[in-house]
Amino acid sequence: SETGSLSIIVLGASGDLAKKKTFPALFNLFHQGFLNPDEVHIFGYARTKLSDQELRDKIHGYLVDEKNASEKADALSKFLQLIKYVSGPYDSEDGFKRLDKAISEHEISKRTSEGSSRRLFYLALPPSVYPPVCKMIKAWCTNKSDLGGWTRIVVEKPFGKDLESAEQLSSQIGALFDEPQIYRIDHYLGKELVQNMLVLRFANRFFLPLWNRDNIANVQIVFREDFGTEGRGGYFDEYGIIRDIIQNHLLQVLCLVAMEKPVSLKPEHIRDEKVKVLQSVIPIKDEEVVLGQYEGYRDDPTVPNDSNTPTFATTILRIDNERWEGVPFILKAGKAMSSKKADIRIQFKDVPGDIFKCQKQGRNEFVIRLQPSEAMYMKLTVKQPGLEMQTVQSELDLSYKQRYQGVSIPEAYERLILDTIKGDQQHFVRRDELKAAWEIFTPLLHRIRDGEVKSIAYKPGSRGPTEADQLLEKAGYLQTHGYIWIPPTL
Ligand code: BG6
Repeated sequence: SETGSLSIIVLGASGDLAKKKTFPALFNLFHQGFLNPDEVHIFGYARTKLSDQELRDKIHGYLVDEKNASEKADALSKFLQLIKYVSGPYDSEDGFKRLDKAISEHEISKRTSEGSSRRLFYLALPPSVYPPVCKMIKAWCTNKSDLGGWTRIVVEKPFGKDLESAEQLSSQIGALFDEPQIYRIDHYLGKELVQNMLVLRFANRFFLPLWNRDNIANVQIVFREDFGTEGRGGYFDEYGIIRDIIQNHLLQVLCLVAMEKPVSLKPEHIRDEKVKVLQSVIPIKDEEVVLGQYEGYRDDPTVPNDSNTPTFATTILRIDNERWEGVPFILKAGKAMSSKKADIRIQFKDVPGDIFKCQKQGRNEFVIRLQPSEAMYMKLTVKQPGLEMQTVQSELDLSYKQRYQGVSIPEAYERLILDTIKGDQQHFVRRDELKAAWEIFTPLLHRIRDGEVKSIAYKPGSRGPTEADQLLEKAGYLQTHGYIWIPPTL
């Protein structure tokens, strides 16, 4: 692996994303030994005037909690010492020249005989400033090529608001950096059970013959949160649940469920297959969409009183290829729901000529619980233990807490940031993939913007509008009655 100086520059260092996700992920990587203190230096950059110490104080509380503070105290103080802060605007030479100077000083101090200049720019910023910031980085802060190494930039969604704005953003950034330098994060791709999809599907004989329209009745990919948009109503109202969750996180999961086997595990081979799935999705029909907005959403002073922005949506996607024609892929996401979880639910067709039909509780389902209580379980019918010949719905359960005791599952951001340092783009969204994703949702998003598709009110803490359940039923999803999976407790 590469050696030499590694500078990680967090732009937007005093913002929410940096505090809650970026710095904690960097600290955890450091704590686990993935960032070599002899090589790495971390720079925060933002407009606010702060001293190094003030930035450290600001993020400190997000890095450890009461339970592990004493155990991590040593690592924490070492980590904080690696952080330097530079303040400046996002569009002025002056700030970025000072930033470059700070990075260069660090590089000189860490230079070994074959030392390189590795510079990772993490844009924890609103996308509106991506273009000016990228221009400044390109002009003043790229790595010193005589040392070898690289310059990479990491960007977060929202990448635009629709196809046109996303393409514009892509070309602006693309004019400055090459695709292998650009890491578009979708943090769902860093989740353990999302990463497991590829292994599950292509390393197991079990699933190969079943994974198609002959056997699968429908697929659901569901995200729920049991809280609303409190505190970020202003951002949210501009975007809505489709751009916030469905067009990126759930669609990425759909790709992994539906794609064909890649030629190899090379990132480009995998991403090629994902693009093909997206390109096979046919236009969404209005009657296969239900939008909702929870009551009370507009009480937020930053949300307009007549907002039609959905905080809930169920949409059916149809993949028009040999494997999936006729199988509805139901994507559902909601804020202020009755529970907090994300899962993939693959429901199989009925058994032909079923002699147990009249006593059955439900169909076979394969469920991948992404969070919380990570698990995979298969719902199947077995004989009810006892003297009588009765059937009952049960499950084969691989619950991670139980099966992998003592193994801690890494945070999505940790894994993804590590990939950016290693230069592995497998779990990042490629430009053509992003474009194909926007192509699917842009017509619907425009109709919502123009008030042609309306959000239905639902009670906070509910399942969302009842119309959504009716849509599921119409799509052929059969709910199992009298059975629930209970995650094992240890
Ligand atoms: C973010 C969305 O991308 O994902 C948030 O902007 C959402 O609205 C979050 O809460 C959910 O992420 P996770 O990892 O908690 O499921």
